[in-house]
Amino acid sequence: MSQPPQAIDWESRYQAGATGWERAGPNPAFLSWRASGALAPCRILIPGAGRSHEPLALAEAGFDVTVLDIAPSAAAAQAARLAPFGARARVVTSDLFVHAPTPPYDAIYDQTCLCALPPARLSEYVALLARWLRPGGRLFALFMQTGEPGGPPFDCPLPVMRDLFAAPLWAWPAVLDAEVPHGPGRVEQPAVLIRR
Ligand SMILES: C[S@@+](CC[C@H](N)C(=O)[O-])C[C@H]1O[C@@H](n2cnc3c(N)ncnc32)[C@H](O)[C@@H]1O
Repeated sequence: MSQPPQAIDWESRYQAGATGWERAGPNPAFLSWRASGALAPCRILIPGAGRSHEPLALAEAGFDVTVLDIAPSAAAAQAARLAPFGARARVVTSDLFVHAPTPPYDAIYDQTCLCALPPARLSEYVALLARWLRPGGRLFALFMQTGEPGGPPFDCPLPVMRDLFAAPLWAWPAVLDAEVPHGPGRVEQPAVLIRR
């Protein structure tokens, strides 16, 4: 069955400067994962990377970085930043539901990509994440908590996330890290999931 087209025009949001999701620097959870060694140099994919700071930080730290985004201007911004890293970094401008990057990856960093996707397609996205990650690979997720209907960002309540990322394919940590603020009334719940 064919899928509906991408409903949200992300490029227009970048062009209009309507990018309230953007952080001034790397996510505190990202910095914590780097400092602890949980996120150590490997082959990593950042879907829906936008113009975020993390891909450059990862490339500078020696990771093999693949960025994927549907918005041409965001992808171009990442390509300009990552150009100095040559074959160790690449940018794919595509709808992630249409063009899959070449798996497998050791890690995936999802920062407000999942919550930007139409909720009706989340199961499909989770299946793609499982396909892109090697067994034993890790998903570094920031699950958006808005507590409100509608979006984007779409609310990602933990019980729903636990159902989507369920055993035996996914393993959750026994204890989750502290939530990270993300604008008024919103927090992100960091979680490192292992793809079995
Ligand atoms: C809320 S923004 C987050 C951007 C970035 N991760 C950050 O933290 O600044 C969502 C991003 O996902 C991208 N995106 C949304 N749907 C997509 C899709 N189907 N395929 C690829 N990228 C998509 C958008 O272009 C946008 O850059």
